[in-house]
Order: sequence, then structure tokens, then C-alpha cells
Amino acid sequence: MAGTEVLHERRVAPSILSADFSRLGSQVDEVLAAGARVIHVDVMDGHFVPPITFGAVIVEAVADRVHDAGGVVDAHLMIEQPERHVRDIASAGADNITVHFEATAQLHYVLDAIREAGCSAGAAVCPGTPAASLDEVAHDVLDLALCMSVNPGWGAQELIPAALEKLTRMRGALPDRVALEVDGGVHQETVKACVEAGAAVLVTGSAVFGSPDPAAAYVEIAELAEAL
Ligand code: DX5
Ligand code: ZN
Repeated sequence: MAGTEVLHERRVAPSILSADFSRLGSQVDEVLAAGARVIHVDVMDGHFVPPITFGAVIVEAVADRVHDAGGVVDAHLMIEQPERHVRDIASAGADNITVHFEATAQLHYVLDAIREAGCSAGAAVCPGTPAASLDEVAHDVLDLALCMSVNPGWGAQELIPAALEKLTRMRGALPDRVALEVDGGVHQETVKACVEAGAAVLVTGSAVFGSPDPAAAYVEIAELAEAL
């Protein structure tokens, strides 16, 4: 695992969900060269969310170049029974693994297993899930909390405004050592509000990789977030 201190800094995290997969490596290189140090990888299983994206092979495909640039691979597992996949995703080179509160009956167990696998342990909550759902693990096995600002499954959705106030509540309730990430609908117009609400790691997919110039879009969003 690469050092995950970067997750405790303010960082814009490009999500490869919106990348051009025919040239994934060079797209990742472009945003790394522009300064990105957290690369977000959205794993979807067709059950927890309808789409199927990719799994450990894509983590492995990007991990070396991310690590060589001093960055971290942030794997967001939108999958049921995530405990069955933690070891493979970690072995493939993930540095942080985030699972959904809604996807496992064994949240404490799976977060512990993520740490055992050598990664930092994240838990995500969907828009309809109370922020306080993470309270029982926050002081124990949690390293990162992810507040979904859209319903998971697809890129390019609009940020749900209630997520901003939820972020503020989560930041207030979480111990300082737990990083707070926001994911969904984060772009030039919304990133500042997310920062003001308390998010540090700002996932952005379509606004970066949907742009004809991902590096320039990354820099623009990072400047707006004062995250350079
Ligand atoms: C959605 C994914 C996001 C997605 C965000 O379920 O978890 O990471 O890539 O895409 P944008 O930034 O386009 O909303
Ligand atoms: Zn995500």
C-alpha cells in the first residue's frame, strides 16, 4: 500500500469511470502529470447497482503508474458482499478500499479485513442512508467516510443539494483522523460548496474525463477547490 496520507489533504480525485477505456493508461497519466494524486476507481457488480464496470484487473492496470507518480488508488466498491473481494482488490494495488454501508451486514468485519489486507478502510453512505450509520465504526476501524452526493451507479448526475448539509454533519461527528470524501456531481460549479461543507477528497468523473482536455479540467477544478 502506498502512503494514504494524501487522503487527509484536500484533493480532487479523478474517477476513471468517465475515462476513454481505449486509452486508459494515457488518460490516467494526463491527470497525474497535472497533479492528481488520488485516482478513484469505481467497481460495480450489476447487483448493488445496475451497471457492471470492472474489478481487480483494472485496479492492477493503473496501480503502477499511479504509485510511480506518488499517488494512491482509491477503490470504491459498489458491490454486494464486498468482503469476498477485498483481498483481490488489495493485491491488485488498491491503497484505499471503500465499501458501502448498505452492501454488507458485516461492516465492522469488512473494514477490519481491508486493514488486514494492508489498505486504508473506507465506508460509503448513499443519499438515503443516515449519516450517523457510520458512528459505530468511526472511532474504531474507519479511515475514510464517503458521502455519496448522487445515487451510485452512473456518472454525470447532478449533485443532490441535501448532501452538502449531510457532509457538514458527518465532518462534525467524525474523528479528525477520518478523511471525508464526496462523490457525485462534483464539478466547477459545485466543488467549492463541497469544500465549504467539509469534504477533503473531491471525486470528479465526467467533469474531468468528459472534457476534451482532462488535465486542464483537473487543474481548473483543483484551483477552484484550492486543492493544488
Ligand atoms: C458514481 C461513481 C462516481 C462517478 C462520479 O456512482 O461512484 O465516482 O464516477 O461521476 P461524476 O463526477 O460524473 O458525477
Ligand atoms: Zn465513486
